[in-house]
Amino acid sequence: MKTVTLSHLNAFKRASEPFSCLTAYDASFAQHADAAGIDVLLVGDSLGMVLQGHASTIPVTLDDILYHTRCVARGKQRSLLMVDLPFMSNADTSQLLRDAGALMRAGAELVKIEGAGWMHDDVRALVRRGVPVCAHLGLTPQSVHQFGGYKVQGREQDDAQRIVADARLLVDAGASVILLECVPAALGHAVRNAVEVPVIGIGAGPDVDGQILVMHDILGVTHGRPPRFAKNFLTGRDNVQAAFAAYHDAVKTRQFPAEEHSF
Ligand code: KIV
Ligand code: NA
Repeated sequence: MKTVTLSHLNAFKRASEPFSCLTAYDASFAQHADAAGIDVLLVGDSLGMVLQGHASTIPVTLDDILYHTRCVARGKQRSLLMVDLPFMSNADTSQLLRDAGALMRAGAELVKIEGAGWMHDDVRALVRRGVPVCAHLGLTPQSVHQFGGYKVQGREQDDAQRIVADARLLVDAGASVILLECVPAALGHAVRNAVEVPVIGIGAGPDVDGQILVMHDILGVTHGRPPRFAKNFLTGRDNVQAAFAAYHDAVKTRQFPAEEHSF
């Protein structure tokens, strides 16, 4: 079984074949997701919400993420392992390099960072040192208090143009992947066309290169009302791996996301 690398994600983009991504936080679920064919696993700082019960991702520490990264790294075989840098890892460049180094040693194969175009020098510093970077744009949950809630981003034309420009800037600085969260489908499409690298979407419509969801959302475990862009794939199935496989198939066959999951 060939392990998924950035070359595969690039090939998927060139072939216009969507790829599947899912969050994972422990070895057992990671093993099921990997076996179900999920291409990319993300140890997301969403763990602060779905595992720890916080109202945001802000309290999550580097040590929290390292612990879950080690767990997932033991469970997965084929999937590419992407890992989030926590809030304030970008306080300064040396902090960022140290934190990213720790994630890589724990098993990260791609490091995801929230932040806009102003992060370009830091992205370059990481890439020069051999750390592949995914730049997370649009709704960046670590900035929730600045946004005044979890709101769709890029609805206004100047905001949309800024997001496209930021994506270009970060790719020019060496980012290998862009992740877009909660933006209108038309903006997802625009960013996908604006950059050469794969664009992963969550609530970014169908016209991006890959899709990602939070594991708890696709298993119906999430407390309260699930987000509009999510779908429960356990409904009508009797085990977790079948739900993961159904999500993977729905992404590959472009049945997910549908209109009702997009903005
Ligand atoms: O932390 C996370 O799970 C994420 C995804 C929502 C993309 O960043
Ligand atoms: Na995250």
